[in-house]
Amino acid sequence: MNNHKQKQTPHLDRRAFIKTTVLCSGAVILTGFPLASYFIAPALKKATGKWVNFGAVENLSSGSIEMLTYEFMVKDGWLVLPQRGFVWAKIDKDHNIKVFSSTCTHLACNVIWQEDANQFICPCHSGRFDSNGKPVAGPPTKPLSVLGHKIEEDKLLVYLNV
Ligand code: FES
Repeated sequence: MNNHKQKQTPHLDRRAFIKTTVLCSGAVILTGFPLASYFIAPALKKATGKWVNFGAVENLSSGSIEMLTYEFMVKDGWLVLPQRGFVWAKIDKDHNIKVFSSTCTHLACNVIWQEDANQFICPCHSGRFDSNGKPVAGPPTKPLSVLGHKIEEDKLLVYLNV
C-alpha cells in the first residue's frame, strides 16, 4: 500500500496574484504617503525664524545694555510649547542698537551682562565677552551672535530662531 500523501499546494492564478499585488501597492502608496507626510513631516521640519516685538524703542536707555525678555508659543512637531528667553540690546549714545544673543558660544549657557565688569559673563565655565560680544576670557572662542533687528512704527523687532 502506498502511503504517500500528495502535497497540495494552493493553486495560484498568476494573473490574479499580479493584479492583487499591483492593487495593494497602489493602495499603500495612495494612503501611506499622505499619512507619512502628515505625521512625519512636522517632526522633520527645520527650525525657522520669527520677528519678535520687544516694544517701544523709546523705552531703551541710551548708553546701556539691557536684557529684553520674550515668551511665545512654538509649534514643535505635534506639540505647541512655550519658548522663553532673553537677548541683550546694546544702545549707544546716539541710540544705535545692536542685539546680542544671550547664548554662550561655548556650550550654550545664558550669558549675563555685568555693568561693573563691563562684560558679559557666562556662569557655566566663567567665559567672558566684552561689550561688543568678543570673547576675552574662558573657553569661548567665538563672539556672541548678533541678531538681526529692525524698527517698525517705533517698535524694536528682533529676528529669533525658533
Ligand atoms: S557655556 Fe559658557 S563658558 Fe562654557
